[in-house]
Amino acid sequence: MMTSAIKKAVIPVAGLGTRFLPATKAMPKEMLTVVDRPLIQYAVEELFAAGIEEIIFVTGRNKSALEDHFDHAYELEATLESRGKIGPLSALVDALPPEGNFVYTRQQRPLGLGHAVWCARHFIGHEPFAVVLPDDLVLADVPCMQQMVEAYEACGGANIVGIMDVPRAQTSRYGIIEPGESKDQLVEVKGLVEKPDPKVAPSTLSVIGRYILMPEIFEFLGRKQTGAGGEIQLTDAMAQLLGQQPFYGFAYAGTRFDCGDKVGYMKANIAFGLARAEMREPLVEFMQSLGVGKD
Ligand code: UTP
Repeated sequence: MMTSAIKKAVIPVAGLGTRFLPATKAMPKEMLTVVDRPLIQYAVEELFAAGIEEIIFVTGRNKSALEDHFDHAYELEATLESRGKIGPLSALVDALPPEGNFVYTRQQRPLGLGHAVWCARHFIGHEPFAVVLPDDLVLADVPCMQQMVEAYEACGGANIVGIMDVPRAQTSRYGIIEPGESKDQLVEVKGLVEKPDPKVAPSTLSVIGRYILMPEIFEFLGRKQTGAGGEIQLTDAMAQLLGQQPFYGFAYAGTRFDCGDKVGYMKANIAFGLARAEMREPLVEFMQSLGVGKD
């Protein structure tokens, strides 16, 4: 594991997950499984790979399964051990974080992503921090946040958001940047707009759920100004940091899947399944049997 200039991260998981109802009626969206592990575990593993170990989860109602997922399950572990099921047992135990490194706070009302991040302010204190949205899953050789922390260190510290190019017709689904100068994978961010109409969008570069932010963001989030959809938007607070601090978009190497959306989620299962050596062949055979790729 790398040692990281960024020590802490926020994972906001207080959203209602309405696009996945009824699956998310009694279970948090972040517990949806891609191949064999829940979205939340991918997020945590990505942060660990980037050298970040202290994580605050901003949760809401019905989210206790998330806490249970990162805790011992004594009965299950004892049963697996007595039956000699060492593989499944280590899959459980290896996923546990070091004790005391995870904290949980409640966003009492789902007022928006910006508000959820603001709820983590006391835990973060006055240091730069990462934010990962677990429903944005990135398939990459080098985990996305690790790439971003390396870029952060190489540029001497800045606000950095993961960016990807999207079709212009889809800009109204995303936060979109107004780009300035670019160097290698970093693009200067001159403006940020949440969910702009394709006709007025300043570019087609959209912000994905990966952020490295300076603590000054809390000052703007604390103003609790509502934006698109009547929610307190992280994008709006980030826009207020522009001009005051260096701010870049980072064109990560990898493929992002929007697992908050049903088609994106299905695609993630296929892509992550195909990326597993032991699953690739049977999956390819199955897709061929469905006639995928033929007219
Ligand atoms: P989404 O925009 O995907 O919203 O949130 P959602 O409520 O989770 O899902 P839908 O749109 O109703 O299906 C993006 C991220 O922000 C968090 C979510 O948990 C998710 O990680 N979020 C959003 C909060 O923590 N609090 C909020 O008030 C809103």
